[in-house]
Amino acid sequence: MALCKRRSLRVVLGAAALVAAAAATASLWARLQDDGVHDPRSPAMAQLQQPAEALAPLPRDTAGNQVNWVQALDSGAIAPRSTLLDSAPVRTRDDSFLISRFGSMPAVRFPHRQHTLWLDCANCHEALFKSQRGANRYSMSAILEGEQCGVCHGAVAFPLTECNRCHSVSNAQLLRELRGQPR
Ligand code: HEC
Ligand code: HEC
Ligand code: HEC
Repeated sequence: MALCKRRSLRVVLGAAALVAAAAATASLWARLQDDGVHDPRSPAMAQLQQPAEALAPLPRDTAGNQVNWVQALDSGAIAPRSTLLDSAPVRTRDDSFLISRFGSMPAVRFPHRQHTLWLDCANCHEALFKSQRGANRYSMSAILEGEQCGVCHGAVAFPLTECNRCHSVSNAQLLRELRGQPR
């Protein structure tokens, strides 16, 4: 009897774990009715696309809203319009910079390409960052307070908990690069 009970307990626990796992997948994106932002009684509710329907097919990420937006663009999974007005110029840049070196963390590589696919130069220059290498002073505590990179990261781009996505260049890699291209 005791054995039997234990086995059924295990079955119940197993089933509970499966239900929890399924719920975790479903709850990656709250339904609009449950997100605390939309009015569930609004007649517009039926016309709005649910986040899960829109986001589930896109390349998955482990942070933020669970979509890797750079991969989503690069893979062609999404192809947003670059401008509202066809006459507006589209400006991109492909260079990237190391903006932190030999600290306690791997160095930070800032890539222009991935940013200018989403943003215009004026989103950053000249108010947020001067467009001149070495002319900016960066600080992780300012970033954590929502300044500099933190204006967007943690708000509209991947969150600051993803340290290694910015701190992506190990000291060994850095030494190799610096030998090739002194700054
Ligand atoms: C959005 C990009 C970004 C993210 C994400 C980020 N950092 Fe930074 N971090 C920077 C930049 C830019 C600097 C450069 C400031 C400087 O030169 O000291 C920096 C500097 C630092 C420094 C001082 C320099 C050093 O290497 O000792 C530390 C420590 C640090 N970050 C820790 C972290 C930790 C821990 C995380 C994750 C919890 C993190 N950072 C996430 C951009 C980022
Ligand atoms: C997301 C923010 C962001 C956007 C958008 C952006 N930049 Fe930058 N840009 C930076 C940062 C950060 C630096 C590094 C400056 C430093 O070393 O402190 C930089 C550096 C530069 C530099 C100096 C390069 C050098 O070698 O000295 C130029 C020029 C520049 N940007 C032009 C542009 C132009 C043109 C665009 C639009 C096509 C653009 N940037 C878009 C953040 C941005
Ligand atoms: C004006 C907004 C803005 C600012 C300021 C900004 N970023 Fe970003 N960043 C973005 C967006 C948007 C993306 C693309 C979406 C995403 O990856 O979440 C991005 C992506 C990135 C990526 C990922 C590239 C990839 O291939 O996945 C890195 C690395 C990065 N940012 C570093 C930085 C650093 C370092 C700073 C500060 C020097 C900074 N960003 C400042 C908006 C910004």
